[in-house]
Amino acid sequence: MARVKAAAKRPRILVVHGPNLNLVGTREPEIYGRMTFSQINRLLREEAKKLGSELTIYQSNHEGEIIDRLQAAAGKADGLLINPGALTHTSLALRDAIEALKLPAVEVHLSNLHKREPFRHVSYTASVCRGQITGFGYRSYLLGLIALLAILRDGA
Ligand code: DQA
Repeated sequence: MARVKAAAKRPRILVVHGPNLNLVGTREPEIYGRMTFSQINRLLREEAKKLGSELTIYQSNHEGEIIDRLQAAAGKADGLLINPGALTHTSLALRDAIEALKLPAVEVHLSNLHKREPFRHVSYTASVCRGQITGFGYRSYLLGLIALLAILRDGA
């Protein structure tokens, strides 16, 4: 009897951009680059399509709304790609929400945090993520997506 090969499930990735990232492109372009927020999202969608995954993209300037969005993702996403913006350096509540979600998560930053002010060297959120990619401009998001999909594919 001919066996029908089950279609591989497309991993569902939630992309979260934190405060002020909607301004990227015009906000301090010498630090964050000239690629706009919508251009970054378009590139991410193109890459996700190439790699066979589904993306949901969310941005908020409000800590509590981001936490609500993460809670709502339980059972509806397979992985999290997050640039928490300044909440990286301040938010234990966001850290706890990422931990509670129990999904593989990758933290990304446009700028190289370690080349910047000392308060940006600390990340409350990185320790509940699989890893952090920092300093590659818009490419940090693409590298983060590739890493996250590889983790999901390999199951490790
Ligand atoms: C950022 C770095 C943060 O320190 C800063 O507050 C941001 C952007 C980055 O992508 O480089 O808003 O997360």
